[in-house]
Amino acid sequence: MAITLKTQAAEIEGMRIAGRLASEVLDMLTPHVKPGVSTEQLDQLAHNHIVNVQQGIPAPLNYQPPGYVPYPKSICTSINHQVCHGIPNAKPLKNGDIVNIDVTVIKDGWHGDTSRMFIVGEGSIAAKRLCALTYESMWKGIAKVKPGVRLGDIGHAIQVFTENQGFSIVREFCGHGIGAKFHEDPQVLHYGRPGTLETLVPGMIFTIEPMVNAGRREIRELGDGWTIVTKDRSLSAQWEHTVLVTENGYEVLTLSAGSPQPPAFVATV
Ligand code: MF3
Ligand code: CO
Ligand code: CO
Repeated sequence: MAITLKTQAAEIEGMRIAGRLASEVLDMLTPHVKPGVSTEQLDQLAHNHIVNVQQGIPAPLNYQPPGYVPYPKSICTSINHQVCHGIPNAKPLKNGDIVNIDVTVIKDGWHGDTSRMFIVGEGSIAAKRLCALTYESMWKGIAKVKPGVRLGDIGHAIQVFTENQGFSIVREFCGHGIGAKFHEDPQVLHYGRPGTLETLVPGMIFTIEPMVNAGRREIRELGDGWTIVTKDRSLSAQWEHTVLVTENGYEVLTLSAGSPQPPAFVATV
């Protein structure tokens, strides 16, 4: 499969809208992420907001890549040692849980894909550290993005930053090209060697979405066919943005009023 470039103004504008809407779903959910709420309730809120308010489509619902059963919900909610693709259920969140909420909205045929970590009530020092460091690791990757840079440079930046602090990067899942399809080429690995893999050019749009484990990097899949957990049951965190390669650098497409600020090392443009 080849990388599809989005260079027409209308394509980029469509991706900007989809990206902002996905981020606004997270903004809407934020005050609801509290002890006692179930992830199924969060899914319902997100689904209704996307369909009724945004007049969009929740991309995960019934999504079925080859070898998978159709995904049954409208968002992914991955709690504590769940790495990604957690399926919302009726169990209430409890004080100290950490939860990744991953939202993908389709609007006018374009996909916007973003996720954030939420700490339910009072989090432990270890949980807060993992979430903060994973956020920084995503931005270490984003900050590299500009024409001429290689995908291996991005993966390397994320890997070095994370591993230097004693955390591990999940290898089996990666960022991805995105546009008219949910998952397009290229694969965006969150580890790698500088100067390797695809060279970035303006018009590429892909996600950067590192999954960072507090313990070992190994994972396994649960019997539901979707949920990925850490093998050693250590905590795992993930953040995700959808990013456009511009002439001089990058534009993050999945920002909204409630997006957390970038870390201090990110140059403001
Ligand atoms: N949003 C996830 C990603 O970042 C993919 C979820 S696939 C689903 O790529 F079917 F589980 F929703
Ligand atoms: Co993604
Ligand atoms: Co996602």
